[in-house]
Amino acid sequence: MSNAVVIGMQWGDEAKGKIVDYLSGNADLVVRYNGGNNAGHTVVIGEEVYKFHTVPVGILNEGVTAVIADGVVLDPAIVAEELRSLAPKGIGKEKIKISGNTHVLMPWHRLFDNLQETSKGSKKIGTTGRGIGPCYADKISRIGLRMSEFIDPARFKAKLHDILAVKNAIITKVYGGEPLDEAAIYAEYSEYAKELAPLVCDTAKLIFEAADSGKKIVFEGAHGSLLDIDHGTYPYVTSSHCVAGGASIGTGIGPTMIDKVIGITKAYSTRVGEGPFPTELFDEIGDKIRRQGNEFGTTTGRPRRCGWLDTVISRFTARANGTTGVALTLLDVLTGFDTIKVCAAYEIDGKITRDFPTDVEVLAKAKPVYEEMKGWSEDISECKRFEQLPEAARKYVKRVEQLIESPICVLGVGRRRDQSIILDHEIMTL
Ligand code: GDP
Ligand code: IMO
Ligand code: MG
Repeated sequence: MSNAVVIGMQWGDEAKGKIVDYLSGNADLVVRYNGGNNAGHTVVIGEEVYKFHTVPVGILNEGVTAVIADGVVLDPAIVAEELRSLAPKGIGKEKIKISGNTHVLMPWHRLFDNLQETSKGSKKIGTTGRGIGPCYADKISRIGLRMSEFIDPARFKAKLHDILAVKNAIITKVYGGEPLDEAAIYAEYSEYAKELAPLVCDTAKLIFEAADSGKKIVFEGAHGSLLDIDHGTYPYVTSSHCVAGGASIGTGIGPTMIDKVIGITKAYSTRVGEGPFPTELFDEIGDKIRRQGNEFGTTTGRPRRCGWLDTVISRFTARANGTTGVALTLLDVLTGFDTIKVCAAYEIDGKITRDFPTDVEVLAKAKPVYEEMKGWSEDISECKRFEQLPEAARKYVKRVEQLIESPICVLGVGRRRDQSIILDHEIMTL
């Protein structure tokens, strides 16, 4: 067996897409297992920028089959559009498989996402507005629509009728809104169903048999560990299992079949949406990080909140995921700072701790205890080996590794596929 799960160690956008693309170079399967089109994963090959929301980014590598597994919530309109955008690149539908157990994201999910956010006012989560929470809520409440039902015209028609009777009552009576049009939805979504039907299969069997016969698999995690529904900064989280264990839950293969867990963390921190963020910077340093890192959301275009690296968080998420290696990405963005700070501990109610509190009220009181390190001014974006980095950058990486308590296996020094410094070739090769 040789497979790896790639997960975010912060609040998302850690450059999982770039690392998944690298690992997929000699993979057979690449598998999305959680979340939906709230994710935005970027890969830069030469001058071309590719952004994916549901289809796994590893598909760009030759010989790779992409799988959208059970744990995903799938917006058929978005997937149909992604399939159309791949066709001119010679990537056909036959390279993509979808589990019949995925839950289908429908117009009422997006509507409820936005109604709920608006009604929360200043207490809003800051969701991507893609309907993710309501779709997972329906799944957990056992009233959702699965892909296997969606692609069967008679079952879809009957289920749509039953679901809309309830949803329209809530829309009109609770929110005072206009009811959704059953016939129009059926007409539009039946077309997507026809388009996606040939891709639907038993993906758990496909993945098990691939793993069992020694094929190479990359599990492409979405979001970040602190957005995990159980282990993140609840309620300022998404609605899926973002930690590495999600790869087992969301695909139907056992945890003993997963070999490597590669955690991705930026060399600093970002967050999109609301919720506590102890090392957030509100000054010109934060602005400079946002500018140099081009920190604007891949999915919604929102400016990302920026701050120094928080190793209380990365140590916690290294443990929650059982990382076997850590990718420290966007190191080049820290070029040009006289000093760089790294959060080594928190002070909470006068006590120093390195343990991360997941209760947001406690986390909101955490004051970062910083270590200050010398910065560097040299351009590092074409460095290929660790020894080529300026001494200050090498010291930063080494100190971060000590604080995280998990080995760093790769450094990101630029957006392009080839702008990585591999420190541990064994972990980074499937
Ligand atoms: P993901 O959601 O974790 O896949 O990350 P996103 O794609 O949303 O955001 C990461 C952004 O950083 C993208 O625009 C990438 O092209 C870019 N990126 C990835 N690695 C590096 C790096 O090492 N340096 C720089 N400067 N940019 C990077
Ligand atoms: P990738 O995979 C960054 C955040 C939203 C919001 C919260 C809940 O690209 O790293 P949701 O729409 O999921 O109900 O929003 O989660 N969020 C992300 N932030 N990157 C992501 O994905 C995210 N997916 C969800 O901004 O705060
Ligand atoms: Mg992203």
